[in-house]
Amino acid sequence: MDRRKAMKIFAGVVAGTGVGAYTLSNVFKPEFPPLNAPVNLEYNPSASSWAYSRIDPAVTGDLAYNYYQEGSCMYAVFKSVAGQLADKFGEPYSSFPYHMMKYGRSGIGGYGTVCGSLNGAAALIGLLVEGNSIQNTLITGLFRWYEQIALPEFKPSTAVLDFTPASSVSESTLCHASVTNWVKKTGYRADAGERVERCRRLTADVAIRTAVVLNEFTGNTYVSNGHDSRNVSECMSCHGDTGKLNNTFGKMECSSCHTESVRHKIFANPHYKLMKEK
Ligand code: HEC
Ligand code: HEC
Repeated sequence: MDRRKAMKIFAGVVAGTGVGAYTLSNVFKPEFPPLNAPVNLEYNPSASSWAYSRIDPAVTGDLAYNYYQEGSCMYAVFKSVAGQLADKFGEPYSSFPYHMMKYGRSGIGGYGTVCGSLNGAAALIGLLVEGNSIQNTLITGLFRWYEQIALPEFKPSTAVLDFTPASSVSESTLCHASVTNWVKKTGYRADAGERVERCRRLTADVAIRTAVVLNEFTGNTYVSNGHDSRNVSECMSCHGDTGKLNNTFGKMECSSCHTESVRHKIFANPHYKLMKEK
């Protein structure tokens, strides 16, 4: 259909009912590309002095749960893994300045940005895994999992606080959103001991997941499955680097911050159709 004809039909329907406009907008909806197929990542052990050997995920979870008191979420995830490697390999792990990881608490120094447990997991990947694209893939897998799964799941053998938190889906990798979604669901205050216990257990969950990811990757069984979100991939097919707009980047869940406006629902599809390829 040529541009003039499309505009004429569209203007006519927009003048009509809202429902008609939505329906017509769908006619202009582009074909979205399929999600990426799962890929088996290949592990090439490097000559780096930061060696890795398989660790027990359950042990890692217990360690992280207990390290939480010492230095909060980021520190706990990092030390739960790297501390075991220090036990196995000694240096350079044994003189690692673990205390530096305490800055990640409450979304970096209390700022509420990236969840510290994820920051700790990503720091481990940065330390132990070589290659930008492999690091990105492993981090994406962890972050997507965190956005979509209901946490916490972890049950400690000896609880610091005898309270079993309900789980909630964060739909975001931000400390602020993750905590607030849980607070909204359960009715506890953000500064309550129950909320701290929720984060302590969630920290153990992230440590367990990180151990599984590192074990699979170094065992050559890691498959990048479920890394794409249908929602994000649709948004990015117009707004991302292969789209005509190409005005943003990122992989995090868009809907945690952007709720689609009526204007966007009605106009984005036909507008996009009429835009020139970049
Ligand atoms: C079919 C292509 C297309 C898709 C898919 C798409 N957009 Fe857009 N978007 C546009 C166009 C075109 C504009 C420019 C303004 C307009 O036409 O309304 C826009 C504008 C925007 C804006 C600017 C403010 C506004 O609301 O107009 C934001 C934010 C945005 N899009 C976010 C998103 C998010 C989040 C998603 C996924 C839920 C998404 N877009 C999916 C085409 C698209
Ligand atoms: C943590 C919150 C957050 C998330 C998550 C987020 N955005 Fe945004 N986005 C913003 C803010 C803040 C702006 C700047 C203000 C605005 O335009 O609303 C913005 C701006 C934009 C714009 C530019 C709008 C314009 O007027 O030019 C687009 C397009 C957009 N975002 C798309 C996306 C897409 C696609 C995703 C998912 C991959 C996403 N955003 C995820 C917060 C977020």
